[in-house]
Amino acid sequence: MTSFMFDRFGKHPLTKHQISVPTPKPGEVLVEIKAAAVNPVDIKKRNGDLRFLLPEKHPAPTGHDFAGIITAVGSAVTDFKVGQRVFGKLDDWHIGSFADFICVRTKYIAEIPTDWSFEQAAALPLVGLTSYQALHDYLQLKPGQSVLIPGGSGGIGSIAIPLAKALGARVTTTASPKNFTRLRALGAEVVLDYHDDQALSKQPQFDAVFDTRGGQDLIASFDLVKANGRIVSLNAMPDPQFVADQGEYFHLNAFKRVILKLASAKVDRLAQKHHVWYRFMLVKSSGQQLQTLTELMQAHQIQMPIDRTFTFADTQAALDHVEAGHAQGKVVINH
Ligand SMILES: NC(=O)c1ccc[n+]([C@@H]2O[C@H](COP(=O)([O-])OP(=O)(O)OC[C@H]3O[C@@H](n4cnc5c(N)ncnc54)[C@H](OP(=O)(O)O)[C@@H]3O)[C@@H](O)[C@H]2O)c1
Repeated sequence: MTSFMFDRFGKHPLTKHQISVPTPKPGEVLVEIKAAAVNPVDIKKRNGDLRFLLPEKHPAPTGHDFAGIITAVGSAVTDFKVGQRVFGKLDDWHIGSFADFICVRTKYIAEIPTDWSFEQAAALPLVGLTSYQALHDYLQLKPGQSVLIPGGSGGIGSIAIPLAKALGARVTTTASPKNFTRLRALGAEVVLDYHDDQALSKQPQFDAVFDTRGGQDLIASFDLVKANGRIVSLNAMPDPQFVADQGEYFHLNAFKRVILKLASAKVDRLAQKHHVWYRFMLVKSSGQQLQTLTELMQAHQIQMPIDRTFTFADTQAALDHVEAGHAQGKVVINH
């Protein structure tokens, strides 16, 4: 089978590898991939940006999201069977959905709703789970609360906006004017031009911020949120609570823990100064949560917007499109 991989760190294209179809281990199923989605994390992995948390050997497979058909099951699998249409986000240590087949533990997959295409299903897992975990688990949004979701037009924003609305929150987002109409249709009450530095400071303070940008945008968020409000960031250094909770999962030794403590100190001090609850998060794979999310989307008639589709042979072009940074929704690879 074909698997697209990175042969070394840096701005080098994917290379095509011919490898054997894997055999499912106990608790795993083998999935013939029909569609996969690209995420900015695939570019970050290529660059080596995540190697502090997730060291890897080359050639390194990539691709986190997939949708396909189960073609074999390992021993002890009772919850899924051959022929089922399933989708999911692969776990951090076993990625590689830019391939013809993948073995995955059943706890990370869910059945695709009968009226969803493989393309629709593949677009959802990583951004959908991230948004659900951020809004529901970390920010614990309540009906009537206000939330700022910067970067509304990308993969995350396009699902986070309707999800936040489905949870009863009032959404403010930022985007380029060309995307304003689309984001209002997704459920944003206020849409501001991200090129205007002053636009957000003129808004009333928010109950919560779902920071998708990091850097100065994250720093500025502490002035935009109410005292006792909440901020969760996708693009920051792991904070001490993250390290305490997930240090073992990421095999963080004492040296790495000290480095992370120093690196996150500035933001942690800001959180204390502003009396704001703050966390960095990394999305977790979960078939059960994907099922809950799918049901929520169906109940509220939410769809994952797809920006462009590419063929499997054009996987590198799909990555280039995401790297350009202007996707309006998700970028999907079809087999
Ligand atoms: N920690 C985690 O677990 C986790 C999980 C998922 C994603 N992430 C990270 O979250 C970030 C967002 O992911 P994504 O999938 O949404 O990315 P994406 O789809 O590539 O985002 C592209 C969008 O960002 C918009 N944009 C660019 N600069 C902006 C700015 N300064 N302000 C507001 N919008 C801007 C672009 O709009 P224009 O075309 O108008 O410029 C474009 O529509 C990425 O860095 C990703 O790696 C982290």
